[in-house]
Amino acid sequence: MSKIEAATDDNGYEFIKLYHPKTISYVKVYLFGGNVVEYHDLNGKEILFLSSEAIFDGSTPLRGGIPIVFPQFDKPNPSIPKHGFARTSMWVLDSFSRDEGKIVLKLEDSVESREMWDFTFKLLYSITIGDNSLSCHLALHHPISVMCQVLLHNYFLVGNVEEVGVKGLEECEYLDKLIEFEKFKDDNQKIIVRGEVDRIYFPPLVRLNKDNEGVRVCLEEDGEMVVELTAWTNQPHNHLNPQMVIWNPWIDKSRGMADMGDEEYKHMICMEPGIVSEPFLLEGVEEEGEFVFSQKICSFYQQEEEKKSKEDI
Ligand code: BG6
Repeated sequence: MSKIEAATDDNGYEFIKLYHPKTISYVKVYLFGGNVVEYHDLNGKEILFLSSEAIFDGSTPLRGGIPIVFPQFDKPNPSIPKHGFARTSMWVLDSFSRDEGKIVLKLEDSVESREMWDFTFKLLYSITIGDNSLSCHLALHHPISVMCQVLLHNYFLVGNVEEVGVKGLEECEYLDKLIEFEKFKDDNQKIIVRGEVDRIYFPPLVRLNKDNEGVRVCLEEDGEMVVELTAWTNQPHNHLNPQMVIWNPWIDKSRGMADMGDEEYKHMICMEPGIVSEPFLLEGVEEEGEFVFSQKICSFYQQEEEKKSKEDI
């Protein structure tokens, strides 16, 4: 049976830790932003990057973990903050399922949210700790039609960003945000980072399991797959299929960011599934409509002993 622990840290931020029933794996999430900040896999390896300069002042989004980008990406609507208000809103714990190893956080519309985005909504964000995986499902309940964008802004911790590659986006078209959203096609066998990268990729749909089609990318470090990230929606029939933002700020941008150490860009890469190339419409229905955006992060990091025994063979 999994267990949870709720506490407040030195900055006054409330957090919940959800523990895997049998291993040392756990996930830590702040109610502020519903922001997952740590995910330790079954070997205890931290998978997510959180900047040592992250600001905990209650208004700034956290620089790391998994900020939730909703209801907009960037700032198409100037009345809403960049990347939306979900990542700076206070969420509440809605439920905990010991058997499923799952917690559900909730965010509902408020006077403040309606001033920015005049819709009634309920977001339920479930976080499940699996045997060597972390699953996140963001369900949007909306009684009337809404236009929105959604994205899970995963920051992955890496040893040296120049030694990593992202696979699964070969031959894909992408919009380059650094060149005014110009469209290109990636001919490389994998994406490597040797400078600032900020792109919205359109990955192909693949069958993930018998129930879902979605997108899949893999992070390689020193030539070995270390993380697999899959993402899907419950509405592929509406062509609401995930795109994948790949971001690394590199040297100059990091230096200009108050909440990121000058050298920290070397130790992170963002692989962010979302529907962001333009706002999409979710039709209202009599009964509450429900749009679900999901991702699963699987760790393939090996323990040092495992690595060694492989080398010895
Ligand atoms: C990425 C965007 O998703 O987030 C980048 O593509 C942006 O353009 C980055 O710089 C970080 O955004 P922020 O608001 O957290 O600094």
